[in-house]
Amino acid sequence: MKLFVDTAEIDAIAELNELGMVDGVTTNPSLILKSGRDILEVTREICALIDGPVSAEVVATDAQAMIAEGRKLAEIAPNIAVKVPLTWDGLRACKVLTGEGRMVNVTLCFSVNQAILAAKAGATFVSPFIGRLDDINLDGMELIADIRAVYDNYGFDTQILAASIRSVNHIAESARIGADVVTAPPAVIKAMAAHPLTDKGLAAFMADWAKTGQKIL
Ligand code: E4P
Repeated sequence: MKLFVDTAEIDAIAELNELGMVDGVTTNPSLILKSGRDILEVTREICALIDGPVSAEVVATDAQAMIAEGRKLAEIAPNIAVKVPLTWDGLRACKVLTGEGRMVNVTLCFSVNQAILAAKAGATFVSPFIGRLDDINLDGMELIADIRAVYDNYGFDTQILAASIRSVNHIAESARIGADVVTAPPAVIKAMAAHPLTDKGLAAFMADWAKTGQKIL
Protein backbone atom coordinates (compact mmCIF):
# COMPACT_ATOMS: atom_id res chain seq x y z
CA MET A 1 0.00 0.00 0.00
CA LYS A 2 1.25 3.46 -0.88
CA LEU A 3 1.03 6.19 1.73
CA PHE A 4 0.33 9.74 0.58
CA VAL A 5 0.34 12.76 2.85
CA ASP A 6 -2.76 14.94 2.71
CA THR A 7 -1.42 18.46 3.22
CA ALA A 8 0.13 21.48 1.53
CA GLU A 9 2.43 22.19 4.50
CA ILE A 10 6.00 21.88 3.19
CA ASP A 11 7.62 21.32 6.60
CA ALA A 12 5.29 18.47 7.46
CA ILE A 13 5.87 16.81 4.09
CA ALA A 14 9.66 17.20 4.42
CA GLU A 15 9.68 15.71 7.93
CA LEU A 16 7.83 12.57 6.85
CA ASN A 17 9.77 12.34 3.60
CA GLU A 18 13.08 12.19 5.48
CA LEU A 19 11.89 8.88 6.91
CA GLY A 20 10.87 7.58 3.49
CA MET A 21 7.19 7.58 4.45
CA VAL A 22 5.83 9.71 1.61
CA ASP A 23 4.89 7.95 -1.63
CA GLY A 24 2.95 10.98 -2.82
CA VAL A 25 0.99 14.06 -1.73
CA THR A 26 -2.61 15.18 -2.06
CA THR A 27 -3.79 18.76 -1.81
CA ASN A 28 -7.15 20.43 -2.32
CA PRO A 29 -8.41 24.04 -2.28
CA SER A 30 -9.09 23.89 1.48
CA LEU A 31 -5.55 22.65 2.19
CA ILE A 32 -4.11 25.41 -0.04
CA LEU A 33 -6.16 27.95 1.95
CA LYS A 34 -4.86 26.46 5.21
CA SER A 35 -1.25 26.70 4.00
CA GLY A 36 -1.66 30.41 3.19
CA ARG A 37 0.49 29.82 0.08
CA ASP A 38 0.09 30.47 -3.64
CA ILE A 39 -1.10 27.23 -5.28
CA LEU A 40 1.42 27.24 -8.13
CA GLU A 41 4.32 28.15 -5.88
CA VAL A 42 3.63 25.65 -3.10
CA THR A 43 2.79 22.86 -5.53
CA ARG A 44 6.09 23.46 -7.33
CA GLU A 45 7.95 23.19 -4.01
CA ILE A 46 6.13 19.97 -3.12
CA CYS A 47 6.94 18.45 -6.53
CA ALA A 48 10.61 19.33 -6.09
CA LEU A 49 10.63 17.46 -2.78
CA ILE A 50 8.57 14.38 -3.66
CA ASP A 51 9.13 11.98 -6.56
CA GLY A 52 5.69 10.35 -6.37
CA PRO A 53 2.35 11.74 -7.57
CA VAL A 54 1.34 15.15 -6.23
CA SER A 55 -2.37 15.87 -6.61
CA ALA A 56 -3.30 19.46 -7.43
CA GLU A 57 -6.99 20.25 -7.80
CA VAL A 58 -8.75 22.26 -10.47
CA VAL A 59 -11.33 24.79 -9.31
CA ALA A 60 -13.36 25.28 -12.48
CA THR A 61 -16.65 23.42 -12.74
CA ASP A 62 -17.10 23.10 -16.50
CA ALA A 63 -15.08 20.55 -18.46
CA GLN A 64 -13.28 22.90 -20.84
CA ALA A 65 -12.08 25.18 -18.05
CA MET A 66 -11.09 22.16 -15.93
CA ILE A 67 -9.02 20.86 -18.84
CA ALA A 68 -7.31 24.24 -19.23
CA GLU A 69 -6.58 24.46 -15.50
CA GLY A 70 -5.44 20.83 -15.46
CA ARG A 71 -2.97 21.46 -18.29
CA LYS A 72 -1.59 24.48 -16.45
CA LEU A 73 -1.21 22.54 -13.19
CA ALA A 74 0.41 19.63 -15.05
CA GLU A 75 3.03 22.01 -16.45
CA ILE A 76 4.38 22.46 -12.91
CA ALA A 77 6.11 19.06 -12.93
CA PRO A 78 5.81 15.62 -14.51
CA ASN A 79 4.62 14.09 -11.22
CA ILE A 80 1.45 16.20 -11.01
CA ALA A 81 -1.81 14.27 -10.80
CA VAL A 82 -4.58 16.64 -11.84
CA LYS A 83 -7.44 16.38 -9.38
CA VAL A 84 -10.94 16.79 -10.79
CA PRO A 85 -14.28 16.41 -8.99
CA LEU A 86 -16.51 13.42 -9.64
CA THR A 87 -19.08 15.31 -11.69
CA TRP A 88 -20.05 14.71 -15.31
CA ASP A 89 -17.79 17.59 -16.35
CA GLY A 90 -15.02 16.22 -14.15
CA LEU A 91 -15.30 12.85 -15.90
CA ARG A 92 -15.10 14.55 -19.29
CA ALA A 93 -12.00 16.43 -18.18
CA CYS A 94 -10.55 13.18 -16.81
CA LYS A 95 -11.00 11.44 -20.16
CA VAL A 96 -9.27 14.25 -22.06
CA LEU A 97 -6.42 14.75 -19.59
CA THR A 98 -5.62 11.04 -19.23
CA GLY A 99 -5.79 10.80 -23.04
CA GLU A 100 -2.97 13.34 -23.09
CA GLY A 101 -0.93 11.05 -20.87
CA ARG A 102 -1.47 12.97 -17.64
CA MET A 103 -2.24 11.41 -14.25
CA VAL A 104 -5.73 12.24 -13.02
CA ASN A 105 -7.16 11.83 -9.53
CA VAL A 106 -10.97 11.87 -9.54
CA THR A 107 -11.98 13.18 -6.15
CA LEU A 108 -15.11 13.54 -4.02
CA CYS A 109 -16.21 9.96 -4.71
CA PHE A 110 -19.02 8.76 -2.46
CA SER A 111 -20.49 5.74 -4.27
CA VAL A 112 -19.52 2.60 -6.15
CA ASN A 113 -21.34 3.86 -9.24
CA GLN A 114 -19.23 7.02 -9.24
CA ALA A 115 -16.09 4.89 -8.90
CA ILE A 116 -17.14 2.76 -11.90
CA LEU A 117 -17.52 5.90 -14.02
CA ALA A 118 -14.12 7.21 -12.87
CA ALA A 119 -12.49 3.94 -13.95
CA LYS A 120 -14.31 4.03 -17.30
CA ALA A 121 -13.07 7.61 -17.83
CA GLY A 122 -9.51 6.34 -17.39
CA ALA A 123 -8.78 7.82 -13.95
CA THR A 124 -5.35 7.05 -12.54
CA PHE A 125 -6.76 7.38 -9.01
CA VAL A 126 -10.25 7.53 -7.57
CA SER A 127 -10.60 9.14 -4.15
CA PRO A 128 -13.45 7.78 -2.01
CA PHE A 129 -13.93 10.00 1.06
CA ILE A 130 -14.26 7.79 4.14
CA GLY A 131 -14.49 10.40 6.90
CA ARG A 132 -17.13 12.52 5.23
CA LEU A 133 -19.37 9.45 4.83
CA ASP A 134 -18.82 8.51 8.49
CA ASP A 135 -19.69 12.12 9.39
CA ILE A 136 -23.23 11.59 8.06
CA ASN A 137 -23.55 8.16 9.70
CA LEU A 138 -22.81 6.16 6.56
CA ASP A 139 -20.01 3.58 6.39
CA GLY A 140 -16.93 4.93 4.62
CA MET A 141 -14.99 1.69 4.98
CA GLU A 142 -17.81 -0.25 3.35
CA LEU A 143 -17.41 1.98 0.28
CA ILE A 144 -13.69 1.15 0.06
CA ALA A 145 -14.49 -2.58 0.29
CA ASP A 146 -17.25 -2.33 -2.31
CA ILE A 147 -15.09 -0.43 -4.82
CA ARG A 148 -12.25 -2.93 -4.26
CA ALA A 149 -14.61 -5.83 -4.99
CA VAL A 150 -16.06 -4.22 -8.12
CA TYR A 151 -12.71 -3.13 -9.52
CA ASP A 152 -11.34 -6.64 -8.94
CA ASN A 153 -14.42 -8.21 -10.56
CA TYR A 154 -13.68 -6.43 -13.80
CA GLY A 155 -9.94 -5.81 -13.68
CA PHE A 156 -10.21 -2.00 -13.58
CA ASP A 157 -6.73 -0.63 -13.04
CA THR A 158 -7.72 2.73 -11.53
CA GLN A 159 -6.04 2.92 -8.13
CA ILE A 160 -8.26 3.28 -5.08
CA LEU A 161 -6.95 6.22 -3.06
CA ALA A 162 -8.66 6.14 0.34
CA ALA A 163 -9.13 9.78 1.39
CA SER A 164 -10.78 11.86 4.10
CA ILE A 165 -8.94 9.83 6.71
CA ARG A 166 -9.80 10.73 10.28
CA SER A 167 -8.05 8.04 12.30
CA VAL A 168 -5.35 5.38 12.30
CA ASN A 169 -8.13 2.79 12.19
CA HIS A 170 -9.16 4.12 8.78
CA ILE A 171 -5.60 3.51 7.55
CA ALA A 172 -5.29 -0.02 8.96
CA GLU A 173 -8.71 -1.00 7.66
CA SER A 174 -8.04 0.48 4.19
CA ALA A 175 -4.82 -1.53 4.04
CA ARG A 176 -6.65 -4.71 5.13
CA ILE A 177 -9.31 -4.23 2.45
CA GLY A 178 -6.68 -3.58 -0.21
CA ALA A 179 -6.88 0.13 -1.03
CA ASP A 180 -3.97 0.89 -3.35
CA VAL A 181 -3.17 4.18 -1.63
CA VAL A 182 -4.16 5.92 1.58
CA THR A 183 -3.76 9.66 1.94
CA ALA A 184 -3.77 10.96 5.49
CA PRO A 185 -2.97 14.17 7.37
CA PRO A 186 0.55 14.26 8.86
CA ALA A 187 -0.76 13.99 12.44
CA VAL A 188 -2.64 10.78 11.64
CA ILE A 189 0.43 9.29 9.93
CA LYS A 190 2.53 10.09 13.00
CA ALA A 191 -0.16 8.59 15.25
CA MET A 192 0.35 5.25 13.45
CA ALA A 193 3.53 4.83 15.52
CA ALA A 194 1.73 5.19 18.83
CA HIS A 195 0.52 2.36 21.05
CA PRO A 196 -0.10 2.57 24.82
CA LEU A 197 1.58 -0.81 25.36
CA THR A 198 4.69 0.46 23.56
CA ASP A 199 4.80 3.42 25.98
CA LYS A 200 4.13 1.19 28.99
CA GLY A 201 6.73 -1.39 27.91
CA LEU A 202 9.34 1.29 27.26
CA ALA A 203 8.74 2.87 30.68
CA ALA A 204 9.24 -0.53 32.34
CA PHE A 205 12.45 -1.20 30.38
CA MET A 206 13.79 2.26 31.29
CA ALA A 207 13.00 1.74 34.97
CA ASP A 208 14.76 -1.66 35.04
CA TRP A 209 17.71 -0.29 33.07
CA ALA A 210 18.19 2.52 35.58
CA LYS A 211 18.41 -0.12 38.34
CA THR A 212 21.29 -1.90 36.53
CA GLY A 213 23.44 1.23 36.89
CA GLN A 214 24.92 0.47 33.43
CA LYS A 215 25.56 2.69 30.39
CA ILE A 216 25.85 1.76 26.71
CA LEU A 217 27.73 4.94 25.73
C1 E4P B 1 -7.72 14.19 -0.34
O1 E4P B 1 -7.49 14.01 -1.50
C2 E4P B 1 -8.96 14.85 0.14
O2 E4P B 1 -9.09 16.10 -0.44
C3 E4P B 1 -8.95 14.91 1.64
O3 E4P B 1 -8.55 13.65 2.15
C4 E4P B 1 -10.27 15.35 2.21
O4 E4P B 1 -10.24 15.18 3.61
P1 E4P B 1 -11.30 15.87 4.58
O5 E4P B 1 -12.61 15.21 4.39
O6 E4P B 1 -10.74 15.62 5.96
O7 E4P B 1 -11.34 17.32 4.23
